[in-house]
Amino acid sequence: MAAKVSIRTRLIASYIIVTVLSLGVLGVMFSSMLSDYFFTQQEKSLVSRGQAVAEIVTDVVQGRPLTLQARMVLENLSDFLQAQVWLIDRSGLVVATSSGAMEWEGLRLDAREFAEVMNGTVVTRRGRSGQFKTPMVTVAVPITMGNQVLGALFMYTPVSAVRQTVDQVQNLVFIASLFALVVSNLAGVGLSRSITGPLRAMTDLAQEMARGVFGRRVPVDTKDELGELGEAINLLAENLERSLADLQEERDKFQSIVSGIDEGVIAASKDSQLLWINSQARELLRVGHIPLDKLKLGDFPVPLVDLVRKVSTTGQVEVLDISPFPMVVLRAYGSPIRRREETVGSVILLQDVSEARRLENMRRDFLANVTHELRTPLTSIRGFVEPLLDGTVTDEKTKERYLAIVRDEAVRLSRLIDDILDLAKLESGSMSINFDLLDVRELVQRVQNVFAPQAAKQGIELRSEVISAQEGEEILVLGDSDRLQQVLTNFVDNALRHTEPGGAITISVEASETRVIVKVSDTGSGIDPEELPYVWERFYKADKSREKGKKGTGLGLAISRGIIENHGGEVFATSKPGEGATFGFVLARTGM
Ligand SMILES: Nc1ncnc2c1ncn2[C@@H]1O[C@H](COP(=O)(O)OP(=O)(O)OP(=O)(O)O)[C@@H](O)[C@H]1O
Ligand SMILES: [Mg+2]
Repeated sequence: MAAKVSIRTRLIASYIIVTVLSLGVLGVMFSSMLSDYFFTQQEKSLVSRGQAVAEIVTDVVQGRPLTLQARMVLENLSDFLQAQVWLIDRSGLVVATSSGAMEWEGLRLDAREFAEVMNGTVVTRRGRSGQFKTPMVTVAVPITMGNQVLGALFMYTPVSAVRQTVDQVQNLVFIASLFALVVSNLAGVGLSRSITGPLRAMTDLAQEMARGVFGRRVPVDTKDELGELGEAINLLAENLERSLADLQEERDKFQSIVSGIDEGVIAASKDSQLLWINSQARELLRVGHIPLDKLKLGDFPVPLVDLVRKVSTTGQVEVLDISPFPMVVLRAYGSPIRRREETVGSVILLQDVSEARRLENMRRDFLANVTHELRTPLTSIRGFVEPLLDGTVTDEKTKERYLAIVRDEAVRLSRLIDDILDLAKLESGSMSINFDLLDVRELVQRVQNVFAPQAAKQGIELRSEVISAQEGEEILVLGDSDRLQQVLTNFVDNALRHTEPGGAITISVEASETRVIVKVSDTGSGIDPEELPYVWERFYKADKSREKGKKGTGLGLAISRGIIENHGGEVFATSKPGEGATFGFVLARTGM
């Protein structure tokens, strides 16, 4: 892994390296050029002055003593150039020197040192020279007369003198370089900051976006590449923010659509992971109590899990009815989820078809029941008519009994047919109801009067009571007196049939300002709470053996409910098994 070195550090480092290198190279080149220049300059001035002097001092080398004027020139020259000046004759003998170098007079130079100059050329040399211990700049100028070289003028300057000047200049260069280095590096730091600052801000923004925060923007204050990058990042943030908001909106829309539909929806991945479930599905499958994040496919009924697997593996649409709970039937439509031709999971649509299923069963039962109920009296009639016809029965009394049975069965048959017709009319809404203002007290009284003899015969007490704000006032409702009597008759008839001798039946009326409740309570066998909701359905008989309740067809309560609902009212039933049952209805009260 690459070591973490920030761009800023790298920029500054490269700045320093470049400036140090270039200043170093420049410095070295410059100082070498400089020292070269100084030495050459010194040599040049030595040569030119020497040549000028050489013309004046020809006397000396010719053996004559130096004139005062010539000596002055020599001294001046020595002072001016800070050099020792020696005059040498053809044989290499030092014949005269500048004042500071008198000790050298009379010395004879080595032939190698003056051979060249005696040829008439100017000689310049740098470095050690025979007589001196320190390095010298040596310039030798020939002294000529016509074409003849008479002697030479040797001038010596210690290298150190020049070197000192060079050193001073070099120091200056060095300080200037140092200054340049500091200044340029400061500029480098500033520049790198101007680059890394915006980069830092952009990095922060990008990290924030990665965390899902899009509200921030980077400041763009330059028009360069960094500025462009900043603008691009801002644009990116804006677009991302917008796209995300769009996505969110789409998701919300989808969510509200899916949660808005009545069907349950479940989505699962191919590896049986629950991906999504709407609240309806949770309700239908009764898993609402399990927190969403804890919910697994395994919490669902086995047939449903199998369906999910099957659809995911085959990629085929499947429909299945499952009954996860008693009396509940769910129709599950399973469709594969495809992504690029591949099945990646399945969606299950759950529809509660319990009610439809129940209605369908009821319709089927109804037909079977009607057929059965019609056949029973007919069989009975045939059974009693045949012996009468073929003369097997001769006895008048028996004949009479048989005929009475046939008549009763015929009556029962016609009652059954009337009931079925009534029911059909009630359900199609074509039952004619003659609305009239009627007094409920009167109605109750009438029914009580009708059943009084039968109750007395069965040893059952039949009573009525009225609970009302005002004693004796009329309790009026708008309704069909005959139809309402039919309802009450059925209630009392049922009560009489399910109450043992010694029991009691109470018909009560409760009137409030706006409503009238009429109910028939008995102290009979009562009805199982589980069966209570179904007593209102046609052909429903709580006691399943049809023989036992021979008289009943199971249509009475269904017709009663139809009548009350056609009156805009409501029926109800309550019961405590073994203690009795109460059946009743509520109607709107009409004012006087
Ligand atoms: N007071 C009651 N006590 C106990 N069970 C009752 C009572 N009233 C009704 N039931 C039950 O409800 C069933 C349906 O009653 P419903 O009046 O519809 O039919 P039915 O009396 O059997 O026949 P129908 O009234 O057509 O002659 C009855 O078979 C009975 O099992
Ligand atoms: Mg009945």
